[in-house]
Amino acid sequence: MVSRVIPVDCFDLVVFGATGDLARRKILPGLYRRWLDGQIPEGARIIGAARSAMGADEFHAFVREALSEFVTAAEFDDARLAAFMDMLAYVAIDAAGDTGWTVLGGLMRDDVVRAFYFSVAPAVFGPLAERLHLHGIATADSRIVVEKPFGHDLTSARKLNRMLAAHFDESQIYRIDHYLGKETVQNLMAVRFANILFEPLWNAQFIDHVEITVAETVGVGGRGGYYDRSGAMRDMVQNHLMQLLCLIAMEPPNRFDPDAMRDEKLKVIRALDPVAPADVVRGQYASNGGASYVDEVGNPDSRTESFIAMKVHVSNWRWKGTPFYLRTGKRLRTRVSEIAIAFKEPPHSIFGEAERWKENVLVIRLQPDEGMDLRVMIKEPGPGGMRLKDVALDMSFAEALGDGVQIPDAYERLIMDVIRGNQTLFMRSDEVEAAWAWVDPIIADWEKRADVPRPYDPGSSGPEDALMLMHRDGRRWREVK
Ligand code: BG6
Repeated sequence: MVSRVIPVDCFDLVVFGATGDLARRKILPGLYRRWLDGQIPEGARIIGAARSAMGADEFHAFVREALSEFVTAAEFDDARLAAFMDMLAYVAIDAAGDTGWTVLGGLMRDDVVRAFYFSVAPAVFGPLAERLHLHGIATADSRIVVEKPFGHDLTSARKLNRMLAAHFDESQIYRIDHYLGKETVQNLMAVRFANILFEPLWNAQFIDHVEITVAETVGVGGRGGYYDRSGAMRDMVQNHLMQLLCLIAMEPPNRFDPDAMRDEKLKVIRALDPVAPADVVRGQYASNGGASYVDEVGNPDSRTESFIAMKVHVSNWRWKGTPFYLRTGKRLRTRVSEIAIAFKEPPHSIFGEAERWKENVLVIRLQPDEGMDLRVMIKEPGPGGMRLKDVALDMSFAEALGDGVQIPDAYERLIMDVIRGNQTLFMRSDEVEAAWAWVDPIIADWEKRADVPRPYDPGSSGPEDALMLMHRDGRRWREVK
């Protein structure tokens, strides 16, 4: 199946931090793939901007190197690469000084979309926004893209929002949460709102509980400094897991429109109950002789969590009584992100006690092997009477949609949405602030109690206590396998 590609308008996209890790791993490869797919029109330009003084040739070599590592061998083709390079320019710029701004201003064109990607540390957001205005480079319809972490707590997030708002209207600001750009996350909305099947059951009357798991096998890698100041709560829960929870719990918006969507997500965040200390388990990987968190971050006294499991309640009419269990962690047994919706038992079994009923579960697999599976009860084949068995109605998107289907990386979709001027999959300032307002007291409580995370073995499914979080409610986590 060939995907439908609608070209975007012509643009000048300036990537600040163009020689950084995110640009190398995601932004440049993403743009290259969109270009290969024919979505980027003739004449569009990508202008790399960073501190290092380098010539066009050096920047081309950098981009080539990045693509050789992060696109497939089939995509890495010399002729096509050369044509892509024609779109690139580079400007050495000092975010907080004067160097480079006149050159950048001279490059920008008036008749195309102007977008500025701030792939830089949050401390630089303010100076960049200010200089774009000072030098008359940002226009009233320019767009800026900012990356997480969007603040460290409510106070810092508000400060960032104010800094950006001093120069840009909210309609120009695209705050990235790359989970929203994942194909299956968008599919969650399609499943809920493009089918009649699920929505009537989508509430506390029929849903026993919801599990959201984002398990990673990687450790903190080279990001120890950042991660040790953040932990899983700030790095993953405040944004990615919270967004997933919102998409599951939100009311249907009247249109698939940026503000209609974001209004509904905001209502979910505001309906979250404060979390009781007993409903949170923090973990930190530690092993004798093997990978251990404190060694990786170089802080033997670190109390930062690399794992978190929590029980969350959405206090509204639809969800009262249905817990949402969230967990995420690094160096776990396997890499899997999934959402499992576990339905309640039928009110009465006509098959008698002997035939044990297993819950219907709808699993939405975000990665890897994107797909959905619905566990239903059927009759076990054979003459042995009415014996029941639970089986999966399983659908892998790659299989269901045919061989040619490619699941694009989240960044590809998101960058194209910026050019299209569609903010649906980006976080609004009030959403980000509401998420911090919910997270801050939880973290403050750990700090007050000097809470120490429970150790867990790398390659396991997290600390034992996390299992207890569900066991004590008579439930079990789905296996991380
Ligand atoms: C990032 C976090 O936002 O998401 C990382 O900062 C994490 O710590 C990553 O590894 C996970 O993203 P993905 O797309 O690999 O699930």
